[in-house]
Amino acid sequence: FAGGPLEGRHVLVTSGPTHEPIDPVRYIANRSSGAQGTALAAALRDLGARVSFVTGPAEVPPPARVDVIRVQTAREMLEAVTDALPADAAVMAAAVADWRIENASGSKMKKEGGGAPRLDFAENPDILASVCRSEARPALVVGFAAETDDVVAHATAKRARKGCDWIVANDVSPATGIMGGSENAVTLITADGAEIWPRLTKTETARRLAERISGALT
Ligand code: C5P
Repeated sequence: FAGGPLEGRHVLVTSGPTHEPIDPVRYIANRSSGAQGTALAAALRDLGARVSFVTGPAEVPPPARVDVIRVQTAREMLEAVTDALPADAAVMAAAVADWRIENASGSKMKKEGGGAPRLDFAENPDILASVCRSEARPALVVGFAAETDDVVAHATAKRARKGCDWIVANDVSPATGIMGGSENAVTLITADGAEIWPRLTKTETARRLAERISGALT
């Protein structure tokens, strides 16, 4: 909003899963509701940022008053993200499918008479890593890491591997109930180390993260 600390800033947010077609009616996907990415985009907007929101087919509707760019596949997401740059910050909350089906069928695969199909997997582009390497790299790039064990160690390694500034890590082991739920418990990994945040609603987690992003940009 006018007068907010992020007024005049452009922030790119990716959110939701990607869908990788097997045939016109079937796909593989990651389990992501899009709730955290959507809350983040809204929180950044509320601090005055212009938000480009690149989203896969999420369960929750996108926020109002952001530029929504809808995609299905990882490759479409990469193209939309590249087109949306330059930005002051990029927050990559999407759960991108690591693989796509290379031999996807243009017509519906039939059960009758065929036997089980063989799917050939090809690796998808890493959108976060490619934004980090881009000539138009935003000043602040934030990645997410969903981990089920050794959260800090894995997320710290991921921060270095991807080349991003921060990693927002969360423990998504089934016992936490976080996946698809309304709460999140994150650990923020920066160059200074790991900060364990309390368990908060996804909305509150988003507000805190947006404040931190704002602080880093101003
Ligand atoms: O490697 P991993 O999928 O655990 O990394 C998660 C982070 O990388 C998230 O920020 C996610 O949005 C991003 N990512 C991506 N493109 C991929 C895979 C992950 O941007 N193909």
